[in-house]
Amino acid sequence: MKNQSDDFKPGFLKVLSLMRRKERVRSPIWKWILAHYYPRHRLLDGPSFFESLVFNVTGHAPQNSLAHYLTEIANCDPLRDAYRNTLGDIPDRRITNPALTGFYYALIRETRPSCIVETGTSIGSNTALLLSALAANDMGEVISIDIPSRAGTLTMDSTLPLEAIGALIPAEFRGRWRYLAGDAKVLLPRVLIENDVDIFIHDSLHTRTHMSFEYSVARALMRPNTVIATDDAMWNSAWLEFVHTHRLVSLSCNRNPNLCATVNSFDAFEVSQGLGVQT
Ligand SMILES: C[S@@+](CC[C@H](N)C(=O)[O-])C[C@H]1O[C@@H](n2cnc3c(N)ncnc32)[C@H](O)[C@@H]1O
Repeated sequence: MKNQSDDFKPGFLKVLSLMRRKERVRSPIWKWILAHYYPRHRLLDGPSFFESLVFNVTGHAPQNSLAHYLTEIANCDPLRDAYRNTLGDIPDRRITNPALTGFYYALIRETRPSCIVETGTSIGSNTALLLSALAANDMGEVISIDIPSRAGTLTMDSTLPLEAIGALIPAEFRGRWRYLAGDAKVLLPRVLIENDVDIFIHDSLHTRTHMSFEYSVARALMRPNTVIATDDAMWNSAWLEFVHTHRLVSLSCNRNPNLCATVNSFDAFEVSQGLGVQT
């Protein structure tokens, strides 16, 4: 059966690269390709996506449901006020979307990470949410690596001044935030070596080469049972090739295959020979 095979289908890689535009991600053919030809990728409903990841990180079922955390976040006044003050009267579902940032919130509340690293911050819509989950946990920090965007370069179409980075982050949450300005190619390996990172999230330069670089560095430098997640996974096949090459399992919510996550794991041989940086 096709979806039990580990083999990549070269013809479909070509289709993937042709379908790299974000807007096409929701198309039925895309979902069909993922379901049938990328057996290491699982499209799940929102609660199953959340429950599977939590189980693979902690070894047990979540203590609370995804819906519980979405209600919690909808009642987070500093976050809602920051969004409204900066972006206008946006619908609350933007922050409570189980296929988007709401998922990260629930994952953080359940797994209680000490250190989260993200690449690509911009005004900080995702960062604010990560920090609100850490505030609710009363533990942990977020380290953000970002080059302020310039229109027409670095896969961005707008320019943002340095002082606007993280503008959406409520003042109450800034104590748990560390911002590093610079290229993830330089900073990410250093940050991953210097910190015991539980969750890594890619949302910076969406080129095949850069995405492959960040995923591979995170895999090599993070412990077993940590989470490697990515936004815009369907811009190209870098993420799908990464999970295939490393025999990992990629999960996403069927409402948004662009947000994917995997739990870092290693076979017995790799564990016996040594993981991480050797001293
Ligand atoms: C898509 S935006 C991030 C959006 C953000 N996660 C949010 O939720 O609002 C991508 C950001 O990554 C930055 N970026 C692009 N290439 C980068 C690189 N090589 N290293 C660090 N940041 C980079 C861009 O300038 C931009 O600020």
